[in-house]
Amino acid sequence: MNKIYEKLETCLESVRQKTDFQPETALILGSGLGDYADGIRIVQTIDYSQIEGFPTSTVAGHKGRFVFGYVNEVPVVIMQGRVHYYEGYPMTDVVLPTRLMGMLGANKLILTNAAGGVNCDYKAGDFMLIKDHISSMVPSPLIGENLDKLGARFPDMSEVYSGRMRDIIKKAAEEMGITLREGVYMQLTGPAYETPAEVRMCRTLGGDAVGMSTACEAMAAHHMGMEVCGISCITNLAAGLSSQPLDHKEVQETADRVGKQFKELITKVISAV
Ligand code: HPA
Repeated sequence: MNKIYEKLETCLESVRQKTDFQPETALILGSGLGDYADGIRIVQTIDYSQIEGFPTSTVAGHKGRFVFGYVNEVPVVIMQGRVHYYEGYPMTDVVLPTRLMGMLGANKLILTNAAGGVNCDYKAGDFMLIKDHISSMVPSPLIGENLDKLGARFPDMSEVYSGRMRDIIKKAAEEMGITLREGVYMQLTGPAYETPAEVRMCRTLGGDAVGMSTACEAMAAHHMGMEVCGISCITNLAAGLSSQPLDHKEVQETADRVGKQFKELITKVISAV
């Protein structure tokens, strides 16, 4: 049996011993947005450390648990704290939680993240709807023996971020008076922030925002047939675009400053999609 699938099944069994909750929508919370999960109608939480074989998150400020509950009437599973490639896990472990949420029954995935603005028109505090991504700078989560039970060996990636969901999100943002950019997210490995030359490279290649997550999760979810959308919170201008050196504190501070609005948007999006 495929080792990656075996590990997924072990984790699934471990979660199923603790809850029979049936989520429809999965949500992954980015840096500084983790407390969104504290404000929903929580039914149950499961710490990642309680799940056999689960990669546990090590970044300060990232709680590591699944939150099961309801946003309005929608049954959701939320990742409060994600797993990053820069923590040293293989990509298949990085996307294990995403796949697990799909196997628990979620057929829609909403991704959020904090990202650096590469597009010169962006400002810190902007929100960007992800219309596509560039993930070629990090290993593919689909490398290795294919998980035939989940999806195809050579999956199409021409619309990873659902046009249907994007239309709904744009409409929701407009109704709320929130300005929403739409752009291409580029995933790099981190953990160092980019150099100014790397940021110029991202821009030349067509990136509008840069970060250390998300694209791999979107690929794994799309591979297994989940409908995916993503919103970046532009927490800072990427390196070289401002006179300040980059600092994780700035990322947190911006996320805190616009967090309330971001959370309102997420709530509306969960109900609408
Ligand atoms: N670069 C990469 N990842 C990030 C950034 C950035 O500037 N800001 C928040 N996450």
